Amino acid sequence: MSQRESWATRTGFIFAAVGSAVGLGNIWRFPFQVGQEGGAGFVLIYLLFIASIGFPVMLAEFVIGRRTDRNPVGALKQLGSGKLRYAGWLFFTTGFLILSYYSVVAGWTVRYVLLGLQNEYVGDVAGAEGQFLSVASGLDAVFFHALFMLAIIAIVGLGIQRGIELAVKVMVPAIIVIMVGMAVYVFTLEGAGEAYAYYLSPDFGYIASEWQSILPAAAGQAFFTLSLGMGVMITYASYLGEDRNLAEDGLIIIGFDTAIALLAGLVVFPIFFSAGVSPGAPGAGAVFVTLAAAFGKLSLGGILGAVFFFTVAIAALSSAISILEVVVSYLIDEHGMNRLSATAIISAIIFVVGLPTTYDIQVLNLYDLLVNNILLVFGGFILAVFVGWVIYDFALDELSKGIGDLGPWGTTWLWLLRVPAVIGLAVVVLLGIIEYYDFLVGDFATWFGDNF
Ligand code: TRP
Repeated sequence: MSQRESWATRTGFIFAAVGSAVGLGNIWRFPFQVGQEGGAGFVLIYLLFIASIGFPVMLAEFVIGRRTDRNPVGALKQLGSGKLRYAGWLFFTTGFLILSYYSVVAGWTVRYVLLGLQNEYVGDVAGAEGQFLSVASGLDAVFFHALFMLAIIAIVGLGIQRGIELAVKVMVPAIIVIMVGMAVYVFTLEGAGEAYAYYLSPDFGYIASEWQSILPAAAGQAFFTLSLGMGVMITYASYLGEDRNLAEDGLIIIGFDTAIALLAGLVVFPIFFSAGVSPGAPGAGAVFVTLAAAFGKLSLGGILGAVFFFTVAIAALSSAISILEVVVSYLIDEHGMNRLSATAIISAIIFVVGLPTTYDIQVLNLYDLLVNNILLVFGGFILAVFVGWVIYDFALDELSKGIGDLGPWGTTWLWLLRVPAVIGLAVVVLLGIIEYYDFLVGDFATWFGDNF
C-alpha cells in the first residue's frame, strides 16, 4: 500500500479544520436558529454547549484519529470492541446524508451571488419568497447542486496537500477578512443598534418556557458548527504528526469558529433591522428570503449581497470538502481504491441522494432535522462513551503527546466526557427524537398530504 498522506505544514491542519468548522452552519444556520429560538438566550446556551461538551468531544475525535491513522470506520473497528466496533458506520452514513443536502443549500448561495451581481434581489418579503422558491427547487437547484459537487470533487480528488490544504489556505483568510469588513460596514446602517439589542440581550423567561426546543437546537448547532459527531475531526487528525498539541489546536479552531458565528450575527441582524424585515421567520429558507429582501431594499444591496453570499459559498466549500474526505478516506483505507475514482463514484451517489431535497424545502427540513437533532448528537454521545469510558488509557496517552504532563486537565477532560457529555447528549438525543416525531406527524405529514 502506498504511503498514507499527511498535512504539509503545521498550519495546514488548523486551516483545514477551521475551514471545515466555519461554513453554512455559522453564516446561514446560526442566524436562523437564533431568530427561530428567540435571540440571545439561544446564543448563551449554545456557547455553554460549545465549551462544556463541544471542546471535549473534539479532543476525543482528535485522539482517535491520530492514534489510529485511519478513517472513522477503520479507526473504531481497530480501537473498539463489541457493537462499538461498528459505530464508524453511523459516521459514514451521517456524512453521506449531510453532504447530500449541504451541497444543495450551497448551490443556492452560488445562485444568490449571481442574482446580486445582476442586481435582481426583490425588495419585499413576499417577492423574495417567490424568488427563493424558484432558486431552491426544481432544475435550477439541481443544476447548482451539481456544480457545487463538481467543485468539491476537484478539490478532494487532488488529495490532502495539493487539494484540501491549498484550497483552505486561500479560502479561510478570505472568509475572515470579508466577514470583518461586512460587520464594520453594517455598523453604519440605520437600525444597527436595535439589531444588537435583539441579538445580544437574552430573554430568560423565553428560555424557561421553551427549553425543550432550545436545548436540542443549541446542542445540535454546537455539534454541526464544530463539524463534530461524524468523524471529520477523526479523519483530519489522522493526517497529523505526533508532535502537535491537540488541545491548543482545538482551542484555536473553536475560537475561530465561534468568532465567525457571532460575527455572522453582527452582520445579518443589522441588515434585517435596517431594511425593516423581521428576523424571527422560521425555517431553513428564512435567512435567504429575509436577506435577499433586505439586500433588495438597501442601496448597494446587489453588490453587498453578492459579496455576502460569495463568502457563504466559499465557507460552504471548505466545509463540504471535509465531509467528502471522511467518506473518501474510508474507501481509500479500507478498500484500497485510488483517490480519484473513490471521490468520483461516491460523489455521484451523494448527488443523487440529495435530489429529493430540491423538490421542496420540507424534504430538506426532513434531512436537516434528522442529521442535526439526532444523528450528529448521537454520534457525539457514542464518542463520549467510547473515549470517556472505554479507551481512556489510550486517550490520555495520546493527548499527552505534544503536550507533556497533562496535570489535572487530563482527568477533567475525561470526566467532562463521562458525565456531562454522556448525560447531556443522551437527553438531547431523546428530545431530538420527540421533536422529529412531532415534525413527521405534524408539518411534514400536512405537507405530504397536500402534495401527494
Ligand atoms: N461545520 C460545518 C458548518 O458549520 C458543516 C460541517 C462540515 C459539518 N463538516 C461537518 C457538520 C461534519 C457536521 C459534521 O457549516
